[in-house]
Amino acid sequence: MNEKIAIIGGGNIGKAIAKGLLGSGQVDSANMAITRRKINLLDEFAEKGIKINQDNKKAVLESEIIIIAVEPKHLVGVLQEIRGDLDHTKHIVVSIVSGVSISEIAKQIGQEIPVIRAMPNTAVAIGESMTCLASLRGNDHALETVKDIFDLVGKTIIIDEEQMVAATVLGACGIAFFLRAIRSASQGGIEIGFHFDEAYAIAAQTAKGAASLLLEQKNHPEIEIDKVTTPRGCTISGLNEMEHRGFSSAMIKGITTSASKLIKIKEND
Ligand SMILES: NC(=O)c1ccc[n+]([C@@H]2O[C@H](COP(=O)([O-])OP(=O)(O)OC[C@H]3O[C@@H](n4cnc5c(N)ncnc54)[C@H](OP(=O)(O)O)[C@@H]3O)[C@@H](O)[C@H]2O)c1
Repeated sequence: MNEKIAIIGGGNIGKAIAKGLLGSGQVDSANMAITRRKINLLDEFAEKGIKINQDNKKAVLESEIIIIAVEPKHLVGVLQEIRGDLDHTKHIVVSIVSGVSISEIAKQIGQEIPVIRAMPNTAVAIGESMTCLASLRGNDHALETVKDIFDLVGKTIIIDEEQMVAATVLGACGIAFFLRAIRSASQGGIEIGFHFDEAYAIAAQTAKGAASLLLEQKNHPEIEIDKVTTPRGCTISGLNEMEHRGFSSAMIKGITTSASKLIKIKEND
């Protein structure tokens, strides 16, 4: 990949994207730049040959793909800072920022600059992200270019922009939901006889195996569950007890609550 990529906002997700792209072996560190104000927190990337900078304008001028990964409250300031340096024949702006629409971004930087919204998750750092992408009509080439980049660091899916709230909750927040599920399983494992390190290892690998069964065989979860639940057996007893205590319901309620919160935050902006 020859595009020069700048990540504006080297925080949790910005750094994870940089790590993933570097780890893919397809992006040369010399073609990458990361910015943030506390630049000393980016030393590990400078050591790998990535340009680190406090100057967003310089990073934009030296790059083609501009991935913006700042908190929503900092977005307008960043866009106002860089808009004079954006060139629609050269740049594609990729916004990772949750809850800010393409049209709101276009209002700040002009309609001509191609803007793609991307919603990855922190597994991007190890090439295992689920990244949802959206654009407005007429930006097919830019969308393909951005898809090619995120295909290097996991799976991608193109969605309508109106599905971005759902994508944020299921894909980005989802990492925390599944991690908590693994943590809960390992806490149970400790109670029935494992040290914490063994319990985490067993729970995490079992979760990975369960996900891989679905992704590789494209089966419905219940088909795989049916293979594990022997009549009168211990699996169905445990599973039914979890459901009596609201397992599926808790996950569904958590997801819909996160989505409502995201919409409410946006309305109060
Ligand atoms: N974390 C996730 O899993 C995830 C996933 C998908 C999307 N997102 C979205 O990505 C955005 C960032 O989230 P995050 O969790 O990575 O937050 P974060 O850790 O707070 O990172 C944001 C970074 O932006 C930097 N920043 C602030 N103002 C800046 C400026 N003017 N120029 C350059 N850098 C600036 C901050 O560093 P300094 O203070 O040093 O400047 C900070 O490190 C949010 O909009 C979030 O919704 C996050």
